[in-house]
Amino acid sequence: MIRINNQDEYQHYYTQALNEPNEFWSEVASSFTWRKPWTSVSTGDFENLDIKWFNGAELNITENCLDRHLKTQPHKTAIIFEPNNPDSATRTFTYKELHTEVCRAANMLKQQNVKKGDVVCFYMSMIPELLIGVLACARIGAVHSVVFGGFSSKALSDRINDCKAKVLITNDSGFRGTKEVLLKNICDKALETSPSISTVIIKKHSGSPVNLKSNRDFWWDELTNKITSSDCLPEVMQAEDPLFILYTSGSTGKPKGLLHTTAGYMVFAQYSFENVFQMKSDNDIFWCTADIGWITGHSYITYGPLLAGVTQVMFEGVPNWPDAGRFWQTIDKHKVTHFYTAPTAIRALEACDINLVKKQNLSSLKVLGSVGEPINVEAWDWYNKNVGHKNCPIVDTWWQTETGGIMISPLAGITNTIPCFAMSPLPGVQLKLMDAQGQVVEENGVEGNLVITAPWPSIARTIYGDHNRYKDVYFSDYKGTYFTGDGAKRDDNGFYRIIGRVDDVMNVSGHRIGTAEVEDALNQHPQVVESAVVGYPHNIKGQGIYAYIICLNKCEGEALKTELLDTVTQQIGAFAKPDKIQVVSGLPKTRSGKIMRRILRKVANNDTSDLGDTSTLLNPEIVEEVMKRNTL
Ligand code: WTA
Repeated sequence: MIRINNQDEYQHYYTQALNEPNEFWSEVASSFTWRKPWTSVSTGDFENLDIKWFNGAELNITENCLDRHLKTQPHKTAIIFEPNNPDSATRTFTYKELHTEVCRAANMLKQQNVKKGDVVCFYMSMIPELLIGVLACARIGAVHSVVFGGFSSKALSDRINDCKAKVLITNDSGFRGTKEVLLKNICDKALETSPSISTVIIKKHSGSPVNLKSNRDFWWDELTNKITSSDCLPEVMQAEDPLFILYTSGSTGKPKGLLHTTAGYMVFAQYSFENVFQMKSDNDIFWCTADIGWITGHSYITYGPLLAGVTQVMFEGVPNWPDAGRFWQTIDKHKVTHFYTAPTAIRALEACDINLVKKQNLSSLKVLGSVGEPINVEAWDWYNKNVGHKNCPIVDTWWQTETGGIMISPLAGITNTIPCFAMSPLPGVQLKLMDAQGQVVEENGVEGNLVITAPWPSIARTIYGDHNRYKDVYFSDYKGTYFTGDGAKRDDNGFYRIIGRVDDVMNVSGHRIGTAEVEDALNQHPQVVESAVVGYPHNIKGQGIYAYIICLNKCEGEALKTELLDTVTQQIGAFAKPDKIQVVSGLPKTRSGKIMRRILRKVANNDTSDLGDTSTLLNPEIVEEVMKRNTL
């Protein structure tokens, strides 16, 4: 492993990774447990897209997350589970205990006939068995596909069908604050249209009643109780064997199943985790508040911290229940030193009673992190002052589902930060900014589209089942480079600030949602003829969703609104519900029939002073109507 300790080392390694990438990555990878070493560090490029890292190597990622720590720190706490209800008991797992649980679950999956390469889908609350189940898959070489528990049955079914998952693991129901989510019921509905699933395994969690379908549904506890062996030999995996599929939204079409493979992802997860967060003491405690249903929960709950052998908190609940001091109480309760959350949570909590944060001690904190969306100056200052007491470096980490790990970030305590800047790429990450003409912008003090010019170990290798789409979405805008979809500013000193998406992807409360997905959902409503969805700045959520719809008949206000919101909840999930809906008689379109989204964005943004050139519109008269902004 390479651990960067100061700015000089950062410069040194940045240069080494650029000029001698093989030497650099060999050294990073040297500390892992390999069953067989690699024959080549890296092959493939962004032209041929046959990218391989550590090819020829054999390994199992769980051996690196668990077994290797058993020799040195078997009794160190791996997971402190903080349940939804603060009065319920905390559960902890040492590395040894976690190893045992993962092995038992792995043996249970084997008994259910899950084989290397099979896809296992998870639709669960943030409870330890989710993490255990995911690692159990990796133990036996099954590919996990975790679907966030806020998705609807339709969205779950679509994802299962896309990757043809064989087994579905869920729990009876889960609590988010006071709200009960009937996960197993939602699974039952999804499975009406998902024939590939032959087995459902249910972890009893809330105790709420569920329907069991015979020969298909089994209780997790009953199955694992039958397992006598608490050891399971790790399946020997090839470096490029698939590790997981994770669905994310793009600007067009259905969600993409990004496929991550084993060795490169593993190496980058630990490398980025250790260097960004700089956990130094054995007593340091990490807490990432993300859900395992998103990439942050994959790389910085499930894998990164365990690979690094640290202690972490896993949280089932929500930030605002029993009150909006829950995060701060939990930090004190478990003496969290490294806290990683999303700007949307910071903004929401900033809007609450300041005494909720003031009355907590928070003196354990050493490092704060931010992820998932651009952080605004007010939120950054508030986080710095009220949570970090101006003593904790803030790492604003930029990355994506596709990148597998953090790409641009300060290194905690090493990089001098500028508020809201992700600062510099990690050594091994090569960035450029492109202008509208597709030319590289070399100078500083500019804005441009952010591209990555060379492969890194944890880049997603493909979109599951659609390699052409992978090529097209990421590598066709700027030939030979990976286009991130984000715009960024490079200041006069070469430091980066991420501006946000430049495509039709929205970032709503840190959730990545495609405008096309919401449009598709709205179009399912029988009254909707056509819809156009754009993001607009929202105080708490970062972006809100503004939907313009054309209706078949004269529309009723509140009733229609409720129905439309229900439709989106059913098609995608409640988190994708539009904040504003405006019924219009037409949408501004060019003569070639393309919706002029620029106008819709400006109107949604309430910034109609300069709508730009509208002379190419087929129906310019519609602009005036749109501008009225009379939402339902
Ligand atoms: C955005 C989340 C600004 C960005 C890890 C990216 C950010 C998208 C930051 C990926 C950040 C992520 N500052 N924007 N620090 N981190 N983003 O795939 O627009 O859910 O393209 O991965 O989130 O979202 P995803």
